[in-house]
Amino acid sequence: MNHLTDWSDLPNAVWRACLDRALGHRQRPAWTRSAAGKALGLVFFNPSLRTRASMDLAAAHLGAHPVTLTPGSGMWGLETRDGVTMDGAAAEHVKEAFGVLSRYVDALGVRTFATLTDHDADHEDRAFQAAVDASTVPVVNLESARWHPCQALADAAAVTETLGQTRGRKLVLHWAPHPKPLPRAVPNSALLMAARLGMEVVVARPEGFDLDDDVLDLARQTAARTGGSVTCSADRDAALAGAHVVYAKAWAGRAVYDAPATEARQRHAHADWTVTADTMARTDRAAFMHCLPVRRGVVVDGEVLDGDRAIHLLQAEYRLHAQKAVLEWVWSLLPSDAHAGSVRQPVRA
Ligand code: CP
Repeated sequence: MNHLTDWSDLPNAVWRACLDRALGHRQRPAWTRSAAGKALGLVFFNPSLRTRASMDLAAAHLGAHPVTLTPGSGMWGLETRDGVTMDGAAAEHVKEAFGVLSRYVDALGVRTFATLTDHDADHEDRAFQAAVDASTVPVVNLESARWHPCQALADAAAVTETLGQTRGRKLVLHWAPHPKPLPRAVPNSALLMAARLGMEVVVARPEGFDLDDDVLDLARQTAARTGGSVTCSADRDAALAGAHVVYAKAWAGRAVYDAPATEARQRHAHADWTVTADTMARTDRAAFMHCLPVRRGVVVDGEVLDGDRAIHLLQAEYRLHAQKAVLEWVWSLLPSDAHAGSVRQPVRA
C-alpha cells in the first residue's frame, strides 16, 4: 500500500514524480475526474486551515469524495494508545475507528501533533502509527509528531519555482521565537526537503534548540547523495550571509520534555530572533518562507510578510497542487513510472 508517512521512507523516484506533478498542477490547474468514485477520509486530531481545506479540495479536483472528521468535536473522542483502560474522555479506540473508516473509504489522511510531554511517543510517532496499523487502506500523514510530508512537497515546489535551480543555493532554516513550544515536524521535513534539493542548508538556532540528532544525520546523508550540505549555527549573521532562502519556523527546545520551565525560559530569552527587514537585508535578496499559521511581530515582522520577497502564500497555494499529486500517487494514478518503485524502501541506508 502507498502509505505516506515521510518521504524518507520512499524511493527518490516517487518524490521526484510527485514534485514534478505538483509543479505541473500549478501550471495546468484543471479539475479532473481521474479519481471519480473514490472516497477520502480525513481525520484531524488537531486544528488546521491549509491542510484541511487543500486536502478536501484536492480530492474534489480529482473527482473523489472527501469526508472530514474531528475527534471530540461532532464525533467520538479517540484513544490512540495501546493497552490502556478507556475510562477517560475517549469513547472509541483508533483500532475500531480506523478499522471502520477503512471499510468506507479508499484512503485516509491523519493529523496527530506531537505531545511535547512524552518523548518516546513523539519520537516513535506512536499516534500516527496507531492509525496506520489500524487501517487497511493507504494513510497519508497530514502532520504527525515527526513529519509534515505534504508541507515539504509544497515547499519544494515553491522553492523550485522561485529559484529555478536549487542545487548549491543556500537555505537558512531560521529558528524563531514563539509564546508556546511548538513541534518539530515542519522544520524536520523542511530540512530534509532542502537537503533533497541539493541545497546548502544552515540550521540557524540558539543553543538548546537543535533538531533531533537522527533527523540531522538523515539530512546529512541525504545531502551527501544530492550534492548539498547541512550545518548548524548559533551565529545568525554568518548563517544569513549569501542566503537565497530564509525559512522561518518556531520549534521547541530540547529541554521541553524533561525541563519544560527551563525550555520556556530559554525560548523567551531569544525574543530577538524575530525575522525582520534587517534580518533579510543581511541575505542575498533571499526569498522568505513560512508554513503558516504565523504570528506577525513575533515570528516575523509584517513588513517582511508584506514584502515582495515573501513566498508564504505561494507555499500555501502549492499545498493544493502537492496534495493532488500525493493522492494521485496513493491511488496509482500518476502518469509516470513512479509506481514501479513505490515500495517502502528507505533511502537512509
Ligand atoms: N501549514 C499547515 O499545515 O497549515 P495548517 O496547520 O493550517 O494545516
